[in-house]
Amino acid sequence: AKPQRLAGRHILVTAGPTHEPIDPVRYIANRSSGRQGFAIAGALAALGARVTLVAGPVTLPTPAGVTRIDVETAREMADAVDRALPVDAAIMVAAVADWHVDAAVQKIKKGDATPTLSLSENPDILATLARSPQRPALLIGFAAETERVVEHATAKRARKDVDWIVANDVSGDVMGGDSNSVHIVTKDGVESWPRQGKDAVAAQLARRVADALEPAQPM
Ligand code: C5P
Repeated sequence: AKPQRLAGRHILVTAGPTHEPIDPVRYIANRSSGRQGFAIAGALAALGARVTLVAGPVTLPTPAGVTRIDVETAREMADAVDRALPVDAAIMVAAVADWHVDAAVQKIKKGDATPTLSLSENPDILATLARSPQRPALLIGFAAETERVVEHATAKRARKDVDWIVANDVSGDVMGGDSNSVHIVTKDGVESWPRQGKDAVAAQLARRVADALEPAQPM
């Protein structure tokens, strides 16, 4: 066995949702428990990697050996990712909100006229990293899909210019659940993994990352 296969590697993981405040007491967000991303961060650390985990608002414990940076909004996540560079690999698991609101400074009162939310686009952290001069050697995105999972993930891989997309079938009870069914979409094709626990997905993905970062041994 080679338990420290990722020793000397610095790997970035984003996880969880982002919260985009509407006012001091309200926000919009995507659904995400953060569990898959946290499990991946832990599995990479278990293989010896130095792991920086940029986490949106979740109530999960920090996995052993992981450096965690907590953020709230997508713009804060983008800044934290930028500050974590350079990295050998990045695995972007976070369910980043696509828009933010021009937040009110004071709580909006219910008795007032019903407010209209004016949304502005958030930075695409993954696409920005893909175009960055500091693009990691291995850049991995996630895609949560409810239908035509592989087809959408294949298109997303090309559009975002990333190495792998881990396509997540969220048509069942994956959100907040214990298990996950994923397809690994690379330039060479698609690997479909059996439905398994999120910790097992994380361990298998960490081994796959170690394989990719390790030059093939000469015969
Ligand atoms: O385009 P879509 O949001 O489906 O892409 C999902 C992938 O892109 C995930 O890896 C997610 O973490 C990343 N992403 C990001 N910043 C955004 C939106 C998505 O890093 N603003």
